[in-house]
Formats: sequence, structure tokens, C-alpha cells
Amino acid sequence: MGCEIIMAPLQGFTDAVFRDVYFRHFTGVDHAMAPFISTMTSCRINSSRLKDVIPENNIHFPGLIPQILGNDVRDFLFLAEKLVEMGYGCVNWNMGCPHSKVARKKRGSGLLPHHDMVAELLEGIFAAIPCSLSIKLRLGRHDSDEIFRLLPVFDKYPIDELIVHPRTGVQMYTGKADVDAFERVAARTSHTLVYNGDIVSVRGFETIARRFPDITRFMIGRGILANPFLPSEIKGKDRDPCEDLDRLKLFHDELFETYCHKFYGPVHVTGRMKGFWAYLGQSFPDARKSIKKMLKSKSREQYQAAAETFFSLKCSFLPPE
Ligand SMILES: Cc1cc2nc3c(=O)[nH]c(=O)nc-3n(C[C@H](O)[C@H](O)[C@H](O)COP(=O)(O)O)c2cc1C
Repeated sequence: MGCEIIMAPLQGFTDAVFRDVYFRHFTGVDHAMAPFISTMTSCRINSSRLKDVIPENNIHFPGLIPQILGNDVRDFLFLAEKLVEMGYGCVNWNMGCPHSKVARKKRGSGLLPHHDMVAELLEGIFAAIPCSLSIKLRLGRHDSDEIFRLLPVFDKYPIDELIVHPRTGVQMYTGKADVDAFERVAARTSHTLVYNGDIVSVRGFETIARRFPDITRFMIGRGILANPFLPSEIKGKDRDPCEDLDRLKLFHDELFETYCHKFYGPVHVTGRMKGFWAYLGQSFPDARKSIKKMLKSKSREQYQAAAETFFSLKCSFLPPE
């Protein structure tokens, strides 16, 4: 099937290490969006915030798109310019973050009820932005009609694409992605749309792809974390399921090693790996006990021993179908 798959940004999960190791073990993902970088006031930037997107940390991953979280034109442009200096030709604006701490400040999904403010921001941003801009958004903050006041505003600007996750902000990740609402959005925008939300299996992907034959780009997040083979399955690539566990172990071991060596202290390493199992663990329904051991580990050594035990048990890999 002729589609492109974009790895979704998941703050705390799909960082540069994860993306790089993932790309060396699996196929099928065409692009990735990096987790958001927040703007700072008064046109400042702390270089640690850019670490995740510096090109040296992203040499293996194709088409990385950095993402900005912010609501001030000058600060937004300042950060976009820094990203362009680093070599990026496109940045994404986060209008979807559901967390109330963020939304209360009219950032992320907190911008969605304020179409006048969004119009003003777009006017200022498009007057000077040195690269192309896409927007990732939800249907609204409080209700799913908010997006319909924004679509005519978006239509006035040459936005690269709109990536729509059809839930509201207050919904967080509860309930189901509202595919009917996505269909209404598709009928009322002149922009290219990317579908994002709840694709966890080939069957689920095909249902969406059949319903929206004009959509060619799909963003997938949690589905890839739960089943790293999913993008290649969607692309119709054959594999030998007997090798799944060995391949997952190689991926896991390299991820763990890289976290140990590259970036983080002991708590960070086990924290990252526990996050990894929060999703991958869902595909091992018969291994709850040994996964719990990894999740309870308090040191790298304890974690590593628990992971070795887990893989030696040769549990069945049963991702959602
Ligand atoms: C833990 C977590 C962190 C996330 N971080 C970001 C982020 O930094 N930027 C963003 O636009 N979306 C973020 N998202 C939302 C995802 O990119 C995606 O839109 C959402 O998970 C729905 O897609 P999925 O059902 O394929 O996972 C995050 C989601 C989760 C669960």
C-alpha cells in the first residue's frame, strides 16, 4: 500500500536514542516527529532543550520533524530559526498537548478554544517563519466542535499539513479516536490531513485507510511501542514470526546499553526502560509476572537480571490484532 508512516512524538519515550535504535532494528517508518520543545520567554533557549534534535544524535533517522510548544510569536520564531540553523526545513506546532498544566497557559490543546488568538499567532508566524510549518492538533480542548472554528483560520495560511488526533484535550487518551469527527474535518479543510490515533494493528490501519482513500500519511505512536513490527506489517513486509522474540531482545538490549552509555543516570535508565515495557508489555499478556519484576527493579543490575529472565522464558509475543 502506498502510504507513509510517521512515528508520533511521545515525550519521555520516542527520544533520539529510541528513534535511532528503533530505526536500526525495524523497517516501515518513513519519518518521525520529535517530542515537543517548549519555547522560553524573551527569545532565549537552553541548549539542553535542543539536544534531542541535534543532527549528530539523529543521523540514522530519516526526515525528523522537530516540534514546538508555544504561544508567543517572537519566541516561536526564535526557536524555529534555531531549528532552521540546525538544518531543519519544516517544524511542527503542537496544538494537541492535553495536560492541564500546559493547557491552562493556552499552550498545546489549550489554544484550541481561542481561534482569534490562533489567527493572530499565525499572522505573526507566517510573516517571518524561515521554513515550512505543520500543525498537530486535537478536535478541541473541551468539545470536538472547536476545530471547526479553526479550520477557516488555517485555510488562510500555507500550512504544510494538519495532523489530527480526533480526541479532545480533556479526554486525554480515554475513549476511542472519533473517526466520524475526523471525516467531518476532512470535508471542511483545504489542507492536507494526516490521520493519527489508535492505530494498533494492520486491520485497524486498513479500516482507516479504506475509509479515507485520499489520506496518504498516517502517524502512529503507541501502536509502534506495543508492536515495533507494525509499520513493516502495514507495508506488507513478510517476516518469520519465530524470530520475533530474538529480534525484540536485540532491540531491547541495544536500547538499554545505549541509554546506559549515552545519556542518563541509573534512575533515568530504569525509568526509560520501565516506560518502554508499559507499552511493549501489552503484547506479552502471558508474562505479567516477569514484566512486573522489571517494573519493580531499583537498579540497572536488578533490571538487567529481570530482563534476562523475561527473555529466557520465551513468552509468546501477541500484539493486538
Ligand atoms: C506519553 C505520551 C507522550 C506524548 N508526547 C507528545 C509530544 O511530545 N508531542 C505531541 O504532539 N504529542 C504527544 N503525544 C501524543 C502522541 O503523539 C499521539 O498523538 C497520541 O498518542 C495518539 O496517537 P496513537 O494512538 O497512535 O498513540 C504523547 C502521547 C503520549 C501517550
